[in-house]
Amino acid sequence: MSKTQALLQPIEVGDLALKNRVWMAPMTRSRANNAENKVFDIHANYYRQRASAGLIISEGSQISPRAVGYINTPGIYSEAQKEAWKQVTQAVHEEGGKIFIQLWHVGRMSHPDFHGGKLPLSASATNPNSKSFTPEGFKETVKAKEMSLEEIQETIQDFKNGAKNAMEAGFDGVEIHSSNGYLLHQFFNSTSNHRTDAYGGTIENRARILFEVIDAIKEVMPENRIGVRLNPSLHGVFGMTMNEETIPTFDYIINKLNGYNLAYLHLSEPFTDVSKLEFAEPNIAKRYRPIYKGTLVINSAFDQEKGNQIIEEGLADAVAFGKPFISNPDLPERFASHAPLADWDQDTFYTPGEKGYTDYPKLEQEKVG
Ligand SMILES: Cc1cc2nc3c(=O)[nH]c(=O)nc-3n(C[C@H](O)[C@H](O)[C@H](O)COP(=O)(O)O)c2cc1C
Repeated sequence: MSKTQALLQPIEVGDLALKNRVWMAPMTRSRANNAENKVFDIHANYYRQRASAGLIISEGSQISPRAVGYINTPGIYSEAQKEAWKQVTQAVHEEGGKIFIQLWHVGRMSHPDFHGGKLPLSASATNPNSKSFTPEGFKETVKAKEMSLEEIQETIQDFKNGAKNAMEAGFDGVEIHSSNGYLLHQFFNSTSNHRTDAYGGTIENRARILFEVIDAIKEVMPENRIGVRLNPSLHGVFGMTMNEETIPTFDYIINKLNGYNLAYLHLSEPFTDVSKLEFAEPNIAKRYRPIYKGTLVINSAFDQEKGNQIIEEGLADAVAFGKPFISNPDLPERFASHAPLADWDQDTFYTPGEKGYTDYPKLEQEKVG
């Protein structure tokens, strides 16, 4: 019992010394319910409570008004938004924590109601056949507008501007959201990308936008403070459908990421059962650990035991926990003392205010209460 659990061992990520390998996965909580989509004191309190994570990755934060697809998600494109995020980074730093912001463009996972009646943007004119959470409730998604070359360049600049704002707001780094069926993922996948220009057709072309985004962000911040998130075997959710080209595309992307000195690569195991799909990869860490040379953080449905195990097996360097961090603000302390975990309440994942957000007690508060 004297041996420190793998999850609780410190880790160096770029030039950052992180106190453990229990990271908080990015989670949209839809609490920025104001006209400018700014975070405020409840966000600072929420992230402060979770500052014992080795690294917090913030909720997805839109990089432009065109990047939004859900109500009340915070932005990182305006001066006012940047200023507002400072209270969050300060709170986390006061508690000795570290925090990256997740830079987000949803692409076609949106609705014209968010864009003054204009169509959402995507790699091609496709419909994810999904639902968008609009101010008037859930609505069916529509066929997106294929982005012009100019719109692609603007979007790359929006990522860069988001990164610049993030560093000025005091974040320790950024995570590029190229996962979960959102804009960059829509470019990668040939079921959602039918382009015939430099951004479509071949694997190299479909992956191009991600590397252009990284190259642009590198101009405003150190490369070793940039993380990238990928979900290679996402199938049947968030409008994403795999085909035989999908895994070869991710093989290419992950190999090419070795050419960068990134903070980390953040991978998810499949969100759905893909064991029957012959072209899917059911074991993401096993496939990509031997390929990726840098820090690898793995996610999805991990618990303490599985988290310790995957690090001990050498298949990941850290584990990102999502839902367990919603209901257990002190997750690393609970792991340290093998304390029971509190259950999360799904009904308050995306509702405004403090209920189901900042009112989950820490262990010591539970004992007192
Ligand atoms: C409420 C909620 C919001 C989420 N929002 C995001 C997000 O903004 N960005 C993202 O990349 N993933 C998001 N995810 C996915 C999580 O980061 C994570 O991949 C998922 O919850 C699986 O990990 P877990 O089993 O540890 O919860 C969200 C998940 C939940 C439950």
